[in-house]
Amino acid sequence: MSGRQQSFKNMMAWIDARLPVTKAYEKHLSRYYAPKNFNFWYYFGVLSIVVLVNQLLTGIWLTMSYVPTGDGAFASIEYIMRDVEYGWILRYMHSTGASAFFIVVYLHMFRGLAYGSYQKPRELVWIIGMVIYLALMVEGFTGYLLPWGNMSFWGAQVIVSLAGAVPGIGEDLATWIRGDFNMSGITLNRFFALHVVLVPLALLLLIFLHILALHEVGSNNPEGVDIKKHLDEEGKPLDGIPFHPDYTIGHDLPAIIGFLFLFCIVMFYFPDGGGYFIEAPNYEPANPLKTPDLIAPVWYYTPFYSMLRAATFPLFGLDAKFWGLVVMMGAIVLPVVLPWLDKSPVKSMRYKGRASKIMLSLFVLSFFILGYLGTIHPTVTGTRLAQLCTAIYFAYFLLMPWYTRAEKTRPVPERILSKATEQ
Ligand code: HEM
Repeated sequence: MSGRQQSFKNMMAWIDARLPVTKAYEKHLSRYYAPKNFNFWYYFGVLSIVVLVNQLLTGIWLTMSYVPTGDGAFASIEYIMRDVEYGWILRYMHSTGASAFFIVVYLHMFRGLAYGSYQKPRELVWIIGMVIYLALMVEGFTGYLLPWGNMSFWGAQVIVSLAGAVPGIGEDLATWIRGDFNMSGITLNRFFALHVVLVPLALLLLIFLHILALHEVGSNNPEGVDIKKHLDEEGKPLDGIPFHPDYTIGHDLPAIIGFLFLFCIVMFYFPDGGGYFIEAPNYEPANPLKTPDLIAPVWYYTPFYSMLRAATFPLFGLDAKFWGLVVMMGAIVLPVVLPWLDKSPVKSMRYKGRASKIMLSLFVLSFFILGYLGTIHPTVTGTRLAQLCTAIYFAYFLLMPWYTRAEKTRPVPERILSKATEQ
């Protein structure tokens, strides 16, 4: 051992006696044994972390030049885009990053649905994931108001005024959220505080807990096989490989490079994502006297926005707006209880029966259709279709206890049959 290596070893021994750095490195990286058959769908957890880092770093730099006031916000974004050195790239990294965040998180959640990763013993991983998703929605919503463009203003106006539909306390609740009787600089100020301090802190804590919970129970895999059942004489899973370096270098790094390449193409050539990432009215300053032709939230909320608009009739003396709110909120939080709705003896869709496969396909299709319908003007046919898709969305979850019990599943192999990273 060279002198330098010896000094490093001594230094690590000194640190380890005071802070368990090596222990944590081994537990979460070099001796965290992940199933050897991770595939494409297992890229999106790590990509979520990559996008998170991008959002935090670019967000900090944007904050240095952004002015969180009703008078200054829009002009400060213009200033960042035109005058601040590399300001335009920071802004586009952040705005494209917001959409990228939801793309990778939706794909990450889909993987969970397809491989039953929410089932025992990963219920808490899933539930914490859902809380992350809710926090991410708040983060996106509060962030979208900050440029104080006309869609920022009207989008937030529509969503905040939904609170007005709560019987009895609605109007007071909306005023409390806005901090004013109308959307104003005060609202912008508090959204700014939430967007740059509270929600990012909550997200960081939640992601830490998400990974801690996952590493306690171990990762699922595309086969849904439990790798902890077959261990070698040292107690290592026979079908597991060390997360680092095998997965970090062999699996995740190429994916991160590929993702960054795609991200740069979008960011440099289509930064407004064809009007989906930054909507056209947001190039105009907020104007309380000029309602945009179509008020639609950013694409990642539109499936739920469609559900809100799909409630068109009053019921039990309460108006349609209230029921729209109930349906929308219900749709957002319902997946939290998913681990207790799935009664299947198997995890992965590969071994589930036909009913599960059909329901998942219909669910995904409905989600896309709802997403699209939320970006256009409502029509009679569109509303009927949205109602049908909303019913399918809820049926996927609420009928799950029945169809997962009734269907015939295929036997799950004892061991992972495929070679490492073959799939
Ligand atoms: C900022 C957002 C998120 C980050 C950074 C994140 C990060 C991660 C990472 C790094 C993993 C391990 C690698 C992998 O399995 O892909 C993971 C696993 C998992 N995540 Fe997330 N996640 C996020 C959001 C969510 C959401 C919204 C859900 C669902 C509601 C979720 C559910 C899961 C589940 C069930 C697993 C275990 C998957 C398995 O073992 O098959 N995550 N997450």
